[in-house]
Amino acid sequence: RPEDIPVITIDGPTASGKGTLADVVAHELGYIVLDSGALYRATGLAARRAGVELDEAEAVAAIAAKLDLHFAKGRVWLGDEDITDALREEASGLAASQVAAHAPVRAALNQLQLDFRCLPGLVADGRDMGSMVFPDAPLKVFLTASAATRAERRHKQLISKGIPANIAGLREDLEARDARDKGRTASPLQAAADARRLDNSAQTIEESRDLVLSWWAEARPFK
Ligand code: DC
Repeated sequence: RPEDIPVITIDGPTASGKGTLADVVAHELGYIVLDSGALYRATGLAARRAGVELDEAEAVAAIAAKLDLHFAKGRVWLGDEDITDALREEASGLAASQVAAHAPVRAALNQLQLDFRCLPGLVADGRDMGSMVFPDAPLKVFLTASAATRAERRHKQLISKGIPANIAGLREDLEARDARDKGRTASPLQAAADARRLDNSAQTIEESRDLVLSWWAEARPFK
């Protein structure tokens, strides 16, 4: 039964380090990872390719329902196109945030997300993994970091890839995205009532990882 398959959820705002934390925790446990943001990013991309306006909820939901998406060896494919790099662009994050505000789009992606719950276990990162998609998860983490820290990290990431960036502009963009993700009526970004909060502003990835693993040792249903 799906309820018997272990799942850890990691939710939080843009650039809080959810993806990295999910990857290292999953690696330690041998679990698979669901990067739910990639589904919203791919939906935005597929809608654009199809010439569908991002504010047309039903039309975008139809695209989401037919999403021909595959994950293989750390790459993401839409049909036979490798969209891994396109998905990471700031424009894709912004488009994702727009399509994610539509309830029909969220409904269309729900089953796809549930299907990731496979043995030996799943680490799912996003905005509503603990609050909506996997409400029975034995461990829910709500990850935050100050806006300044998040803008700095994003800046470093871009510069290391040779992409010019400006910290103040990045911070403005991520605060705007936070505001939309928190302010929407459809599954807004919020900590589940039973989530454990983790502010990683002053923590290394290893420290955050070890904390989550210690929480999991307490919370996991099968020891
Ligand atoms: O985590 P990310 O930056 O890849 O997410 C991109 C956008 O997708 C984010 O701004 C909001 C939306 N999103 C969502 O609404 N629900 C999720 N579970 C994951 C992402």
